[in-house]
Amino acid sequence: MKHNVLVIGGTGKTGRRVVEGLTQLGHQVKVGSRKGTPAFDWEDYSTFGPALKGMDRAYIVYYPDLAVPGAKEAIAALTEAALKEGLEKVVLLSGKGEAEAEICEQIVANSGLNYTLVRASWFNQNFSEGAFLDFILAGQVALPMPDAEIPFVDVDDIADVVTKVLIDDSYNGETITVTGPRKMTFKEVVRIMAEEIGRDIQYIPISIEEFKEGMKAAGLPDSYVWLFGYLFKEVLGNADNQVVSDDVERVLGRKAIDFKEYVESTMATGVWNQEVMQQT
Ligand SMILES: NC(=O)c1ccc[n+]([C@@H]2O[C@H](COP(=O)([O-])OP(=O)(O)OC[C@H]3O[C@@H](n4cnc5c(N)ncnc54)[C@H](OP(=O)(O)O)[C@@H]3O)[C@@H](O)[C@H]2O)c1
Repeated sequence: MKHNVLVIGGTGKTGRRVVEGLTQLGHQVKVGSRKGTPAFDWEDYSTFGPALKGMDRAYIVYYPDLAVPGAKEAIAALTEAALKEGLEKVVLLSGKGEAEAEICEQIVANSGLNYTLVRASWFNQNFSEGAFLDFILAGQVALPMPDAEIPFVDVDDIADVVTKVLIDDSYNGETITVTGPRKMTFKEVVRIMAEEIGRDIQYIPISIEEFKEGMKAAGLPDSYVWLFGYLFKEVLGNADNQVVSDDVERVLGRKAIDFKEYVESTMATGVWNQEVMQQT
């Protein structure tokens, strides 16, 4: 059976890949984006109904994070609009180890819609498509929590899991935890990247306060500074949050992508050559 699926965040790291996966399987996909037709904007609840119209399923990616003030209200408004528009099922992308995100998960679980929750560890692609790319290009990765062991997950794996559970009702009501196959500290991650890319990249341990001061000095909004402080402390500060899960393999029937494989395949895109290219 073919579905009509709204992919919210369909221009972002996981959403873009979910759009590709569903399209390849022959489903009709609408990209939920502020630039979409119609536009979808988390800041404007009146855009929810028109974006959901004609859809029977939706992938929900909240931005910037389910832990920020306003997320609960927006998720509640979205699920209400989805019920009104007759959707059958939603899949929510959530953050592993975030108590605040779990409140949003419960809103979805109690909404009356069929649902699957996908709880993700920190993404590999933060180093190539996200907040940490500039550190890699600069050759200096100054991040707090040097002792935290993080089971970084590849967004290709998240997208494959989301694509599958969106259309497979046997996962209804489940919480699927997506992590990579092993835990690594920032120092280990940076060492792998330096070795594979063949450049001098140093890891510099700093405190959370120093990191936040750096963000403020770079002119980032207070809400972002707060969010990063929260994520470092809450998500990485609790070792119980950082457990490797085998859910990727359980759902996909193949091994989760290792960080080294991610670095090898991402090198081919040239994303980490930018600084070199600018200098020549
Ligand atoms: N990054 C991680 O390591 C990580 C780990 C666990 C969970 N998560 C969760 O993953 C989610 C996505 O995070 P991400 O940083 O990786 O971002 P992302 O999905 O790569 O990119 C941002 C997406 O959000 C959309 N967006 C931004 N502001 C929007 C708005 N006001 N209304 C509608 N759409 C908006 C953008 O679309 P347009 O610009 O086209 O509108 C884009 O598609 C978050 O909920 C986060 O908590 C992330």
